[in-house]
Amino acid sequence: MSIKSSSTRYGSVAIAIHWLTALMIVGLFATGLLAAAQVDPAAKLALLRAHLPLGAGVLLLTLLRIVWWLVADRHPALPADQPNWQKLTARAVHFSLYAVVLVTASSGIATIILSGALPAIVGSATLPNLETVLPRAVHGITTRLMLGLLALHIGAALYHQFIRRDRLLSRMGVGAA
Ligand code: HEM
Repeated sequence: MSIKSSSTRYGSVAIAIHWLTALMIVGLFATGLLAAAQVDPAAKLALLRAHLPLGAGVLLLTLLRIVWWLVADRHPALPADQPNWQKLTARAVHFSLYAVVLVTASSGIATIILSGALPAIVGSATLPNLETVLPRAVHGITTRLMLGLLALHIGAALYHQFIRRDRLLSRMGVGAA
């Protein structure tokens, strides 16, 4: 498989970044929701110590992905017989996913810095109340927005795979072409 995408399928770099990001986002939702619901400060801190590097990793992978598309790679074309409204919706959802991941990761970092939580994360200080800073509220809202976009994104992939049966998932490395 070529490292760059062709007109009909994604290249190995785009596929690796896509699935690694997907896996890390599952871990981020698990650790983020558990941390937010946690009342025991030590358990909350342990969850955040797993959440933060994952979030920073997703931010770096997303920036890498954007640079990769801008300087080195081109998206494969969407199936020619697909209605225009579906092509436009797919582009809008993909663009919104990039935007929402960037805002979510940035608001998470801003929450840690502005609430003064960094000494607790890297040292032994007590974790302050994170709810007092505005980026914490932004983080809560954008993660819900991301869930909605992911539902559309995954729903569209399943529609292609099982209703249109055009094997679109194989372009992203799943199953035979
Ligand atoms: C795309 C990346 C990320 C996703 C999908 C994500 C997801 C989540 C979710 C679902 C929550 C629970 C929110 C709620 O229930 O209100 C959360 C909380 C949180 N996240 Fe993230 N997060 C990401 C990146 C980051 C980053 C980069 C940081 C900081 C470096 C961060 C710091 C936090 C903090 C401090 C909380 C609050 C936990 C609490 O209230 O106890 N997140 N995150």
